[in-house]
Amino acid sequence: MRLDKYISNSTDLSRSEAKRVIKHSLVAIDDRTISDPAQKVAPNQIVTIEGAAIRHVGNRYFMLNKPAGVVSVSKDKLHTTALQLIYEHRSETLQIAGRLDIDSTGLLLITDDGKWNHRLTSPRSDCAKLYSVGLATEIGADYAQKLAAGVQLEGEKHRCLPASMQQIDSHHLSLQIAEGKYHQVKRMFAALGNHVMSLHRTQIGSILLDTDLEPGDYRPLTPAEVASSQ
Ligand code: URA
Repeated sequence: MRLDKYISNSTDLSRSEAKRVIKHSLVAIDDRTISDPAQKVAPNQIVTIEGAAIRHVGNRYFMLNKPAGVVSVSKDKLHTTALQLIYEHRSETLQIAGRLDIDSTGLLLITDDGKWNHRLTSPRSDCAKLYSVGLATEIGADYAQKLAAGVQLEGEKHRCLPASMQQIDSHHLSLQIAEGKYHQVKRMFAALGNHVMSLHRTQIGSILLDTDLEPGDYRPLTPAEVASSQ
């Protein structure tokens, strides 16, 4: 990793402040003063600023149980954002991996690892997502078959990929989809002539929402959870 990025990831210094301390020859790698912010740091090397070693903070990964009313964007003038619920050092460097609508709840993944985020959420990623869905009117007898055949969404050229559902009661089901189109679940049920009343995400890939997390709570992902999407 570049030295300036390494420092800004691991301290309170911004990237430009990190560049400044490097250029002022205050930074050393393994006791050798470095003045090039682009100098690479290897994982086993020790970086010091004015002689004090800094501990490298690697990429960070969290799961949040998103409550209703919170938006999945990094800045919003009106509403609380998901990132405002993450009380971590330099939380402005974090990004949301796969949005949930303001009224949707459940599993939201948050990271500062852009590549990991992209792998999980790019339109070409076929990472499965599981939702608990509550509908306004009764589940139709033909829904499972229509979802499996691929629903045609209004305004889309191609049908959705096959989805599978498991009925829970007359108005509730769990739905597994392999895409993340804009408002996908709501549009799928609109295409079937119904209306989504509640939407809660419980799984992305093999990462399950931790049932110990109250709405608004978050925790770091375990190394196994992170690796499951690498
Ligand atoms: N699909 C939707 O329609 N909304 C969400 O929040 C997530 C998936």
